Amino acid sequence: MGVKAVSGFSKFSKEEKLDWLTSNYMSEITDTKETFSYFWLQDDTTQKIIDGFSENTISNFILPYGLAPNFLIDGEIYCVPMVIEESSVIAAAAAASKYWMDRGGFKTTILGTTKIGQVHFKWHGDHTVIKSIYTKIESFLLGSAAPIIENMQKRGGGITNTELLDFTAAESGLYQIRVHFETCDSMGANFINSVLENFANSLERFFVDSPDVPDEERDIDIIMSILSNYTPECVVRAEVSCPVKDLGTFANGMLAEQLADKFRTAVKIAHIDPYRATTHNKGIFNGIDAVILATGNDFRACEAAGHTYAARDGQYKSLSYCEVKDGIFRFWLDVPLAIGTVGGLTSLHPLAKKSLEILGNPSAEKLMRIVASVGLAQNFAAIRSLVTTGIQQGHMKMHLMNILNHLNATEDESFRVISHFEDKTVSYAGVRDYLSELR
Ligand code: MEV
Repeated sequence: MGVKAVSGFSKFSKEEKLDWLTSNYMSEITDTKETFSYFWLQDDTTQKIIDGFSENTISNFILPYGLAPNFLIDGEIYCVPMVIEESSVIAAAAAASKYWMDRGGFKTTILGTTKIGQVHFKWHGDHTVIKSIYTKIESFLLGSAAPIIENMQKRGGGITNTELLDFTAAESGLYQIRVHFETCDSMGANFINSVLENFANSLERFFVDSPDVPDEERDIDIIMSILSNYTPECVVRAEVSCPVKDLGTFANGMLAEQLADKFRTAVKIAHIDPYRATTHNKGIFNGIDAVILATGNDFRACEAAGHTYAARDGQYKSLSYCEVKDGIFRFWLDVPLAIGTVGGLTSLHPLAKKSLEILGNPSAEKLMRIVASVGLAQNFAAIRSLVTTGIQQGHMKMHLMNILNHLNATEDESFRVISHFEDKTVSYAGVRDYLSELR
C-alpha cells in the first residue's frame, strides 16, 4: 500500500477523490468505489446541497432516523425525531415519554436565552484610562455595528449589554469585551461572529482616532473575536413529578418507595462522583444530541456548553436533580441549549426541515423545551433500568437483534435464538454458532 501526500485534493471531482483514495489507501482488490458511491443520493440536486455542507465529500454516512412518540410537554403532545446509532436509546425515550404521559408529562421553563461573544485584545496603557472611557468605547462600537444589528433588532433581538473585563493580572495587557446577545429563533453563531469582528475593527479605529486615548497609548492588538459556546444564560429546565405512590411497581417487584429512594440516591451519586456524573450526563446527551442532530443543530456546541455548565461550581456534576419530599417524587434537568430553528442547516437539510415540521415548526425556545424533555426522559429511563433490572437486559436484546439481522436469520430462526438466549449471555460468536447448529 503506497500512502502518498496529495496537493489540490479539494479540486478533484468526487470520482477523482475516490480513485485517489482507492489507489493510495485501499488494498488492490477493493469494493471501495462501489461502497462509497452506493450511498450517493440519486437526486443530484439534493446530493449537491449535502456535499456543500462540508468539504472533500466523497459519500454520505448513514445514521438511523427514528421517532419517539407520546412526549407530553407543557400540555402538548409531540412525536420527537431522533438521529442516533446507539441501540436502545430511542426505545428508552419512547418508554419514558409514555410513562410520564400517564403522570402529567414534562413541564419546562426557559431560564434565559442570552448568548455570549468575546473580543480579546491587548492594550498596555493605564488600566484606569480604558475603564474610564469604556462607555464611550461601547457607544462607538454599537454605533458602528448598527447596520448589521438592525435586522436582528427588528426580529426582537440584538445586543443586550457589553462589559469590559480586565485579565491583565493573568496576562500582561489582556482585556476582553464580553457581549451579550439575543438571537431570537436562530442559533446566532454567524450573527454573533460578524458583530464581534465588526467590534474589533471599530475598537482599533477608536484607539487611533479618539481624543480620549493618550497619543503614546494608541497601539491596540486584537487577539481574536468569537462567540463563546458556554451559554450559562441560555438555559432551559425540564421536570417531571408525581406522588411517589403513583410511580407504580417495577421489574423485580420493586416498590414505588424503594424505586424513588434508589433513584434519588443514583442521582445524588452523580452529584458526588465525577466518574459517575460523566456517564450520567452522557446518558442525558444520548437524547439531547439525537434531537439536535435530527433538527440540523450543532451537537458539539450543546455538549461543550452542557459539560462546562455541569462543572460550573468547580466540580463536574450531574445536570439533573432528584428530590423525594412530602410523598412527591420530583426529577428535573437544567441544561444550556444554544439552538435555532431558522438559519444554518435547519432549512437546508431536507430531513432537518422535516424534523422541524414534525415538531410543528417550533420557535427556538420551544425546541429548547422539547430537547431538554428528551434529555430528561433519557436520563429517567437509564436510571430506572440501572436501579432495577440493570442496563444490559435491554441492550442485549437489541444487540441480539442486530446480530440476527447481520447473520440474515429468518423469522423462525430468530424466534428460536431469542428463546435460547433468554437466560444466557449474548455474544456474536455464541449466536453465530447456535445459528449454524440450527441450520
Ligand atoms: C449508555 O449510552 C448510557 C448510560 O450509561 C447512561 C447512564 O449510565 O446513566 C446507560
